[in-house]
Amino acid sequence: MVTAYDPPAFTTAPRTLPGVDALWPLCLAIARHRRGNGPAPEPDAARRFRHQGSQGFVLDPKAWHPEALELFSLLKPLLDHPPEGPAWVIGQLGQSLDGCIATRGGDANFVNGPEMLVHLHRLRALSDAVIVGAATAAIDNPQLTTRRVTGEHPVRVLIDPSLRLAPTLRVFTDGQAPTLLVCDAVREAEAAALVGADQVLGVPGLLKEDSRLDLPLLLHALQERGLRVLFVEGGGVTVSRFIAQGCMDRLHLSIAPVLIGSGRPGLSLPVGMVMRDCPRPPATVFRMGADVLWDLDLRPASRL
Ligand SMILES: NC(=O)c1ccc[n+]([C@@H]2O[C@H](COP(=O)([O-])OP(=O)(O)OC[C@H]3O[C@@H](n4cnc5c(N)ncnc54)[C@H](OP(=O)(O)O)[C@@H]3O)[C@@H](O)[C@H]2O)c1
Repeated sequence: MVTAYDPPAFTTAPRTLPGVDALWPLCLAIARHRRGNGPAPEPDAARRFRHQGSQGFVLDPKAWHPEALELFSLLKPLLDHPPEGPAWVIGQLGQSLDGCIATRGGDANFVNGPEMLVHLHRLRALSDAVIVGAATAAIDNPQLTTRRVTGEHPVRVLIDPSLRLAPTLRVFTDGQAPTLLVCDAVREAEAAALVGADQVLGVPGLLKEDSRLDLPLLLHALQERGLRVLFVEGGGVTVSRFIAQGCMDRLHLSIAPVLIGSGRPGLSLPVGMVMRDCPRPPATVFRMGADVLWDLDLRPASRL
């Protein structure tokens, strides 16, 4: 029997309980506290949330609208990261039903619907840094700010070991948030001449002998700058490299009801010759307007 796939939708229960609008300031306050930029949120008079030891902040399920509870469960991994310790990495890709993240020419405006764009800006606001690959920076000329939501802009990190990016890109010139162009330390002076020394992060040993990037070294360099919750926003090559090197904890893979055909691929991983070797990470599904978001916990599958 064929049954239609019906992903769980946000419930349409009457809005008698506080919803996403009330939840979002709490999420920002938790993130600020984690960064050391604000006090720990104190439970309010209605005791709608509390801090519960190693479980981090938890919501009273009876005191919030189901839409807020669902959003909190999706964002909670970013909020639970302890103030000390190694970097924690979340990635995202918005792709078509046939697995493309952009047309062949690089047009990705917009694969996903407006709800998913708001979600992207929420992820930026809760992260210390947003990371993109050089092709994404060159093609999209993005701002990488949080302009669709309230909240601080993250540090903008562009991985460009070949120094192909134009210094006229918005991230280098608009002054909206700090920007770091990442390259190997041997090219740091060259990069500084292009975009200014304060916008360059030269990582010793970033480029391995086979020209591959050593991403654990990059994570360590960012962590040393106090950037520990990291959001890898794309593109497919960059997200795939993080996963292949075991450097991604979580992936938000959103599927839009669109067919692109022969476009730019999403994930491309060195696994999957036979089905039994293909990773099946623990997954939770969320509805985002017309899109379906898969929240994948990659930690058990990090050795790809
Ligand atoms: N739908 C989504 O969620 C989403 C998210 C982000 C981006 N995108 C789209 O994805 C596409 C880019 O993704 P991607 O997987 O191809 O690459 P990417 O991950 O953004 O960047 C990685 C690669 O870019 C290369 N590169 C290619 N052309 C370049 C150029 N003109 N200047 C500088 N570097 C360049 C770099 O090569 P070297 O290593 O040789 O330097 C590097 O290997 C864009 O069309 C963007 O709009 C979609």
